[in-house]
Amino acid sequence: MHTTKTTLRRQAGWLATVLIAALSISATSQAAAKPTIADAQRFMQRTEKELERLLSIRERAAFVNMTYLTEDTDFFDSHFQQELMAFVGKSVKEAVRFRGLKLPATLARKFHMLRINLDLPAPSDAALRAELAQIASYLTSTYGKGKYCKTGADGRRNCRNLGQLSKVMATSRNFDELLDAWRGWRTIAPPMRKKFARYVTLANAGAKELGFKNLGDLWRSKYDMSPEAFEKETERLWKQVKPLYRDLHCYVRAQLSKHYGADKVPLDKPIPAHLLGNMWSQTWENIYPLVAPKTSERAPNVTAALLRKGLKPKQMTKIAENFFVSLGMPTLPKTFWNRSLFTKPRDREVVCHASAWTLDFKNDVRIKMCIKIDEEDLSTLHHELGHVYYYLAYRGLPVLFQTGAHDGFHEAVGDLLALSVTPDYLKAIEILQTSETGKPGLSFLLKMALEKVAFLPFGKLIDQWRWHVFEGRIKPREYNASWWRLRTTYQGIVPPVSRSESDFDPGAKYHIAANVPYTRYFLATILQFQFHRALCKAIGHKGPLHACSIYGNKIAGKRLWKMLQLGASGPWPEALHELTGQRRMDATAILSYFAPLHKWLKEQNKGQRCGW
Ligand code: ASP
Ligand code: SER
Ligand code: ZN
Repeated sequence: MHTTKTTLRRQAGWLATVLIAALSISATSQAAAKPTIADAQRFMQRTEKELERLLSIRERAAFVNMTYLTEDTDFFDSHFQQELMAFVGKSVKEAVRFRGLKLPATLARKFHMLRINLDLPAPSDAALRAELAQIASYLTSTYGKGKYCKTGADGRRNCRNLGQLSKVMATSRNFDELLDAWRGWRTIAPPMRKKFARYVTLANAGAKELGFKNLGDLWRSKYDMSPEAFEKETERLWKQVKPLYRDLHCYVRAQLSKHYGADKVPLDKPIPAHLLGNMWSQTWENIYPLVAPKTSERAPNVTAALLRKGLKPKQMTKIAENFFVSLGMPTLPKTFWNRSLFTKPRDREVVCHASAWTLDFKNDVRIKMCIKIDEEDLSTLHHELGHVYYYLAYRGLPVLFQTGAHDGFHEAVGDLLALSVTPDYLKAIEILQTSETGKPGLSFLLKMALEKVAFLPFGKLIDQWRWHVFEGRIKPREYNASWWRLRTTYQGIVPPVSRSESDFDPGAKYHIAANVPYTRYFLATILQFQFHRALCKAIGHKGPLHACSIYGNKIAGKRLWKMLQLGASGPWPEALHELTGQRRMDATAILSYFAPLHKWLKEQNKGQRCGW
């Protein structure tokens, strides 16, 4: 393990906190005899072995389930999830008997990682645990199968899935058509509401048995600092980027107001949520044509270029793989190509939301994604392969360390590479033609900002909502209203039609239905620029950060790979230091990347009343 004196000290402080928290666990199986360090070592060895076995069965069941949704695969999914939860719950309680021991740092870290391993802990009562596992499968499947159906004027029933509705959101510029798709997708969620409330109760009970206050407290304990300190950290980062978001919002609102009219988009009010090119208004790059600056270079149309090339899903994936290989990383194993899901099957239900998998914690890595041939999915493919290469880099580590330095690191790797997908790079790999690529300037930056800066408040608020739900500060009777309060406060958007508590709009977002923590994406958006800045400096890039590409650079590749190999073997500040020389997350990189745009936005916004 990679450690220094300061690490050990910092780790010791953190572990003391963890152990105090563990004291509150009501241990049922405290051994009478005083255990030794050797006992703890043996216990951990056994536990890791069994954990790896149960995890890889659970992952296989989940993969089959999500790529072939039926009642039976839901059953298997919840069955193996339930076995895993039972084992982890039992092991964490048994581990309490080692709490008085002065363990070596690596072993102590394993005990900590075990306790925070699950995103969904269950109560020890078998019936409650089974109920929780079933609800979790139900929520994910319901989301995956979700369709908006209506009967047309001709009396025919027409159903559309998320892919089809998202296409409307991305391409339509018709206010009412957009509204129909926006409202339509949200009809899938009300049936989840009651089950969601029950899941909150049961998962909280599970978290309490492990010594956490509630599930949100567990989620916030995964960052090598106290949950309170972590919450402050996210606030600090958000404050750094908030002014940039406000100015982007102000400019975009003004352009939308020109297009749709000031009656529909008033200049001093939040923006109606269905006009931003995305089902959840989380990234806005699809409305780039509506807001493109007239005076600058034209951003190339990458989607058109991909279509012109006639690329197929696997070929798009190859492009992303080639980027990792250009950095000196290995090609993907054959099984990746044979076992992944690249295309939406025609004859069965699947969960299309993109994800990356390691099935055996060795070589059996895969993705599951219903690939579209467009710029957005080219970027998402880099994102997913970022997870896959992380899995491959740390596959030699003990299973409890086979995870990101923290989860924001895991989400940032592929995005980091995608930042180097510049017009020049696309020309080099013959996607774009020379005539289409000028110097990337304001237009390029604006398009990037619509993807990255627009996402920041969304990335933050999702768990703001869930933390409050898990804490009980938000009650089921105010699920929807509180959701929209946060959406308005952070993002400056409003629902285009009035909503009520018979709606359940949070459930229409994948990560809420599927119990995936979300702050990781907020952190990743900030970290990827911090990584990019460090690597561009290391390879001697001169000039603006947004023109830098690490493509083909083995020095950058080596440095990145070294960090990936660390997995979670030590506290994340060490991994960050390895790559960037810094030990804190820092939003100044994203700010300096967008600095020329920010200046320009402020000029455009002169005379406007920004804010909402
Ligand atoms: N790209 C997707 C998203 O981030 C899935 C993933 O995290 O891999 O939700
Ligand atoms: N992939 C995540 C999502 O779809 C974050 O970008 O929400
Ligand atoms: Zn991801």
